[in-house]
Amino acid sequence: MDLALPDILKLIHPIMAVTIVFPLIGIAVYMATQTRQRRLQVAHQDKSKIPPSVGTEHVRVGRWLAIAVVGVELLGITRPMFNKIIQDQARGNSSTSVILILLMYVVAIGSLVCLLRARPKVWRATFATLSGAAIIVLSLQPGIFRRDNGQLFQGEWYVSHWYLGVTVTMLMIFSIAIVPDIYQDRTNRWRLIHIVLNCVAVLLFIGQGMTGTRDLLEIPLSWQESHVYQCDFVNKKCPEPPAPK
Ligand code: HEM
Ligand code: HEM
Repeated sequence: MDLALPDILKLIHPIMAVTIVFPLIGIAVYMATQTRQRRLQVAHQDKSKIPPSVGTEHVRVGRWLAIAVVGVELLGITRPMFNKIIQDQARGNSSTSVILILLMYVVAIGSLVCLLRARPKVWRATFATLSGAAIIVLSLQPGIFRRDNGQLFQGEWYVSHWYLGVTVTMLMIFSIAIVPDIYQDRTNRWRLIHIVLNCVAVLLFIGQGMTGTRDLLEIPLSWQESHVYQCDFVNKKCPEPPAPK
């Protein structure tokens, strides 16, 4: 394996997604179905063989899953964002303020940490909004590929790794924010909201698996770039190699 540094940097994000996030999704979903099964069995006065701790275990894994998804989202956007900043600075036309960007990372991560500790509703809402907003602002920075021809909701945005990734990250932050509400609500309204939104999240995760692997196939190795980027991507044609003499 002889990979150049730029190629290794591109691979860190998919490696983290595949080895950390996706196994956590498997565990969280398995425990979610167990939690529901146990709750329904107990509600119908049946004895359940599933231990009562399965609910808290699901939440414990769920919190780590949400943290890992935020981490992987930030990893996915950081390389292309800084690549663009460095390129712009080398050309002498740097428009983005690096200080402001770094501040956004502090807000995104700091608010997530506060959200994980907060109990009162107003603080949970505040930190979830702050963290989510900072992640969206960072994700919208130039240089990050969105598959939308540079304009929001244009082009092939509906099969875009970016749109699915940002949405699922917001759903994970929302899941952390409503944990106490799920427990306090006797009418199970928050529980139902949680189930519906996180079933959507599972579909989006599958979408991330599909769009991410497609993107791995599309992105050339750094030593192939100057050739591959000469191709016409709309008409799917590449320059013919010179005829052998
Ligand atoms: C793949 C993502 C997830 C799915 C599919 C999922 C689905 C579910 C399901 C089906 C239940 C059982 C509902 C019932 O009792 O009928 C549940 C419970 C719950 N989930 Fe999730 N969930 C996910 C991630 C998360 C995350 C990230 C958190 C927050 C950190 C979370 C927090 C909770 C809480 C607090 C409960 C109530 C547990 C209890 O009754 O003891 N979940 N979830
Ligand atoms: C929870 C799961 C994931 C989330 C939230 C996520 C999010 C993102 C985001 C927001 C970007 C930047 C936009 C873009 O370049 O498209 C990105 C880039 C990328 N993602 Fe993912 N992703 C996830 C899983 C995966 C998986 C499973 C793979 C492949 C196996 C993958 C492969 C890639 C690749 C190759 C890039 C481009 C990296 C670069 O240019 O440096 N992602 N991801």
